[in-house]
Amino acid sequence: MTEKDFIPSEYKYQIEEGEVTWKSPSNIALIKYWGKEANQIPANPSISFTLNACATTTTVTYKKQKEEGKEFSFDLFFEGNLKEDFKPKINTFLKRVEAYLPFLKKYHFIIKTSNSFPHSSGIASSASGLSALALGLMSLEKELNPEITEDYFTKKASFLARLGSGSAARSIEGDLVQWGAYNGIENSSNLYAIKYPYNVHSVFKKYHDTILLVDKGQKEVSSTVGHNLMHGHPFSKQRFAQAHDNLTKLKEVFETGNLKTFIEIVESEALTLHAMMMTSLPYFVLMKPNTLEIINKIWEFRKKTNTHVCFTLDAGANVHVLYPESEKEEIFQFIKDELVAFCQNGQYICDQIGFGAKKM
Ligand code: PMV
Repeated sequence: MTEKDFIPSEYKYQIEEGEVTWKSPSNIALIKYWGKEANQIPANPSISFTLNACATTTTVTYKKQKEEGKEFSFDLFFEGNLKEDFKPKINTFLKRVEAYLPFLKKYHFIIKTSNSFPHSSGIASSASGLSALALGLMSLEKELNPEITEDYFTKKASFLARLGSGSAARSIEGDLVQWGAYNGIENSSNLYAIKYPYNVHSVFKKYHDTILLVDKGQKEVSSTVGHNLMHGHPFSKQRFAQAHDNLTKLKEVFETGNLKTFIEIVESEALTLHAMMMTSLPYFVLMKPNTLEIINKIWEFRKKTNTHVCFTLDAGANVHVLYPESEKEEIFQFIKDELVAFCQNGQYICDQIGFGAKKM
């Protein structure tokens, strides 16, 4: 499919008003997306586990205006309060998707959104937030044209979410989601994410992610700035090629369930992401001393116990601790005994692999 396929022709129905609520999860990348071209076209393919507990719930209420507006018309509530300072981000998003949702200026929208995880936990809410909003707008499009198929609905929701925040494209479905053109996966696309289409070993069917909140401060570098630093980066070419190679290796791991190789790929991806930030200009260190304390503890524990605990990182200091269901008691005990002490105010979130967004 191309961008043009997401531009609708005339709508069949007139809809005066309505309301819809979607709950959409966050996701954690195993192969990282870092670097992009215009319109959030990723410089390399990525793949993620969809999460379950970390989610945004968004209600979109829409009412047709007497006349089509010159600007977008909407009120935004975050956790019950009118949030003027979130409006520019939503306005930018609406501008980016307007060509694909030509009805936007005909309505007044009330957008009410809340997160399941604490605000300012340092957990990025853009993936869950923008995917939930994209789904709400798609629900209105489906009212206007009930003939659109489920497959089109899902792809276009991912396509729109991508225009808001790249990684949001991976939050529509679960449990393993791939985004970005890659030779080894049929129908993979830079425009939207797809559910990973091949065999996945049962060990990955229920995987845990305990998120250790090491630093709950504002992000030091916005992801837009971060992605842009990959332009002219001395190692970008090698990095983009490496992501393709790692995806090829991971495909085999999903088939065989080889956790040793899984750990190697996932941890290397996390450290490479941070290495890219440390070697760009300007350069950044987004890990904190406690991030490294945790990583070392995980390595020590893994060596001592032969369990399959590993970590991954986002563009920040928090640590995602990943482990299979069969080892959850032993590893969760270890997390409580040895890792929680390194979290800010002892805070962590227990999450696990999830199955995508839900209409409420
Ligand atoms: O979706 P963005 O533009 O905020 O980028 C997110 C990038 C990482 O979280 C660091 C990696 C990823 O693939 O999710």
